[in-house]
Amino acid sequence: MIFRSLDRKLCLHTSSAKKTQKIAFELAQSFKNGGIIALKGDLGAGKTTFTQGIARGLGVTQKLISPTFILMREYNLPSNSLGRLYHLDLYRLEKVAEILNLVGDLFSNPNNVILIEWADKIENELPRNLTWIKLTNLGGNKRSIEILETNDS
Ligand SMILES: Nc1ncnc2c1ncn2[C@@H]1O[C@H](COP(=O)(O)OP(=O)(O)OP(=O)(O)O)[C@@H](O)[C@H]1O
Ligand SMILES: [Mg+2]
Repeated sequence: MIFRSLDRKLCLHTSSAKKTQKIAFELAQSFKNGGIIALKGDLGAGKTTFTQGIARGLGVTQKLISPTFILMREYNLPSNSLGRLYHLDLYRLEKVAEILNLVGDLFSNPNNVILIEWADKIENELPRNLTWIKLTNLGGNKRSIEILETNDS
């Protein structure tokens, strides 16, 4: 499903959390006016680390804490007054139905930047235009970062 309608695919490797954040920081420049980033990868793969780099790249100065127990945190975007940054962590989500209304409302504003950890849990509910980030722990501090853009076509 994820790999079906690929537009672009990129695979990068990093050797530190800082380098992962730098890649995310740069990717964030394409999301200044909104977009959806779906993150997948095992526990500790670096999803939150990557998300922190995106937030920095969007000019968020607040420390970004993983919303594991509350599902979602939101942040103002200094250079995008039409949207906000939403950081979701679905690790503890048990019933997909519980958040459908919530995410539906977020998706309806194209200026929102929406980052979703464990997005594969709601894969079938996600819009078709989005960017998947798949992080894989290759041992030690090494990680692969696959960036997949899907679209309608
Ligand atoms: N190259 C790297 N990229 C990202 N994180 C790295 C890297 N090397 C080491 N780390 C460390 O791995 C850990 C990644 O944790 P992080 O919370 O980002 O993972 P996560 O995928 O969000 O996990 P969870 O599923 O628990 O939310 C951090 O402690 C980070 O410092
Ligand atoms: Mg996390």
